[in-house]
Amino acid sequence: MVDAPVRRVPGRLTAPPPGWTTTSDVVVIGSGIAGLTAALRLRGQVDKILVVTKDVLAAGSTQWAQGGIAAALGPEDTPEQHEVDTLVAGAGACDAEAVRILVNEGPEAVRELIALGTKFDHSPDGELSLTREGGHHRDRIAHAGGDATGAEIQRALIAAIEQAPEIEVVQHALAVDLLLDGPLEEGGGIAGVTLHVMGEGQRDGVGAVHCRAVVLASGGLGQVFSQTTNPAVSTGDGMAVALRAGAVLRDLEFVQFHPTVMYLPDSRGQQPLISEAVRGEGAFLVDFEGNRFMQGVHELADLAPRDVVAKAITRRMNETGRPHMWLDARHLGAAFWERRFPTILATTRSHGIDPVTQLIPVAPACHYASGGVRTDLFGRTSVPGLYATGEVACSGVHGANRLASNSLLEGLVFSRRIADVLPGELRPPSVPAVDGRTAGLVPGAVRRELQEVMTSRVGVLRNAEGLSDAAQLLDKLAGLRADAVDQESWETTNLLTISAALTDAAALREETRGSHWREDFPERDDARWAGHFDVVMTDGETTLRFDAEPATDRGVS
Ligand code: SIN
Repeated sequence: MVDAPVRRVPGRLTAPPPGWTTTSDVVVIGSGIAGLTAALRLRGQVDKILVVTKDVLAAGSTQWAQGGIAAALGPEDTPEQHEVDTLVAGAGACDAEAVRILVNEGPEAVRELIALGTKFDHSPDGELSLTREGGHHRDRIAHAGGDATGAEIQRALIAAIEQAPEIEVVQHALAVDLLLDGPLEEGGGIAGVTLHVMGEGQRDGVGAVHCRAVVLASGGLGQVFSQTTNPAVSTGDGMAVALRAGAVLRDLEFVQFHPTVMYLPDSRGQQPLISEAVRGEGAFLVDFEGNRFMQGVHELADLAPRDVVAKAITRRMNETGRPHMWLDARHLGAAFWERRFPTILATTRSHGIDPVTQLIPVAPACHYASGGVRTDLFGRTSVPGLYATGEVACSGVHGANRLASNSLLEGLVFSRRIADVLPGELRPPSVPAVDGRTAGLVPGAVRRELQEVMTSRVGVLRNAEGLSDAAQLLDKLAGLRADAVDQESWETTNLLTISAALTDAAALREETRGSHWREDFPERDDARWAGHFDVVMTDGETTLRFDAEPATDRGVS
């Protein structure tokens, strides 16, 4: 049994009465690969589709993806081999069936992306160029523009959306809350969403969209931490609105820290990623004495799964008292750097480091939420009419640690599956129930304090004392109230809600597994902890329950 804390966090939020109301069949929240794929695949199957996005269409994480998209497309590769690598990285916490779907449907989904107009890189003989990243035993990462894969995919998807007049887009729209047509226990489900729109003509301010289904594709929670590769929009909004509406969140403690993020002293917020593909092309890690410390740690050395590399770097930083380690990619040479990694080259140079002649200072930073809104194999959540896909979702494919370049693929594959079932499951049109809302916004000004404590106490290395310190601070912040009802306080409230649940799950999981690293419980413990923490909210109180399930990696590591 698990002695789970009950934590009071802001419940349903108080929004001013909607200044405007509109209707749609489906609202897609988010505009990265997951959201836009869902919208495009739903086209022609439902009458009205509204895509809402918090910033501009291209502002989310997809745009920033460097490495690429993994799929068994090469002659030497098979979905089964991709499956094994995914399960091993996931450290016994994957949903085996979800992984099977990912690797088997992945190749066709990538071919469809190519047919849509995405221009992946090819070798001189015209073959799709496939490379390798951490945890992969085959070359299977398709990439574009060298290290600009996400930007190219985003470009192609936006171009397709622009050719689809039946899909309406509202930018600068923050999803505040989901609206239900009745209590879940009485058969209620999705009936709409409230939005806060900033400066979009007649739809300015708070409004409501009445709809028959919502697809959440709003990305991750990286901004919970003070250093992250995630863009500013990744404030966990989708997870928080789903939780407040009664959906179950799963595996929040499994936050992946990317091992090689450029170290910039005193910098906060989004940090420059040095793609794992750089190591895939032969770069290696060294300490301040020039020792290649990954050798002997894992059979794949510098290309070990991400959690192994992040832990080895952190361990060496702690042993030597240094704030970072080094990545040596000088031997790749100027021409190779310019062709294969033009974006990273420009970024490092803009920060005063030329990787052609200098070592790159690197340290781990928050990169990816493996958990999220729990879904079934068709993206359905526990709230009827609410679907989730991409980083906001927990489909089960990542387990305790996502395999490199599986995230774009997950968004693609599971959005297609949502579009296969959603049109037949539309809820009857209805007017959302007016619920008794309680005030609960925390001040935006506490964001920095929250992010600092999450990085220092709930980051790469965790222990009971640090997690308890973090929980105490979060409790204190939850008691504060914002003066203003604005985007900053809504986002900060979402960050707080997710941080509290994540911290509680991390404190309860007394073992080390995948990306969850407990200094005080350094071993994986399948006897106690094979399974998942689910987070639920009732009347503004979150609680966790443990769902025990056998480990799925067949003991391979
Ligand atoms: C990277 O390029 O290292 C990141 C790719 C990913 O997160 O899957």
